Amino acid sequence: MTEGFTLWFTGLSGAGKTTIAEIVRPELERRGRKVEWLDGDEVREHLSKGLGFSKEDRDANIDRIGWVASKLTRHGAAVIVSAISPYIDARDQARAMVEEHGTFVEVFVDASVEECARRDVKGLYEKAFRGEIKEFTGVSDPYEAPANPEISIESEHEEPQESAVRIVELLEVRGLIPAAVAA
Ligand code: ADX
Repeated sequence: MTEGFTLWFTGLSGAGKTTIAEIVRPELERRGRKVEWLDGDEVREHLSKGLGFSKEDRDANIDRIGWVASKLTRHGAAVIVSAISPYIDARDQARAMVEEHGTFVEVFVDASVEECARRDVKGLYEKAFRGEIKEFTGVSDPYEAPANPEISIESEHEEPQESAVRIVELLEVRGLIPAAVAA
């Protein structure tokens, strides 16, 4: 059976996790992989409905996502996760669950708070700076950067398309997806 893997995007809100994942996803499908994408915003509407942003709730959210990712990985899926996942311990626990059945690839989408606030795609940073949103990651809540991610993306200095290409190349080198066939 094809080996399952989980491609786990971590980083601040607005760092570019979703944007890059949107480019990676169809490429994995073109390479014949069945893809399931667990996006933080969507997970919080369903699986994690009702959870907030305390450390406890974020840990519960990441535990749930990690658990589902591990189950899907077991069946050979290519799983994409995009969630802030700000705590190292919670990410490492998700890694351990996934690695029981396949490969875990941590993608650190790195961008400064200043840059994310400048982009402010959802208008949340402005509210967080005004104190209207509490416990906002990077503003009034911690973000623990990964020490040894499989790949690091500096989204302030790289176009999403280039980042996606680097990620796909890494998966190829690791033997997780076949090389592209010439059109
Ligand atoms: S995580 O910390 O538990 O991994 P997750 O990725 O699911 O977070 O959700 C983050 C999204 O929730 C953000 O992109 C943003 O749209 C929204 N959000 C609302 N409140 C907060 C907050 N206090 N901190 C971070 N994100 C928040």
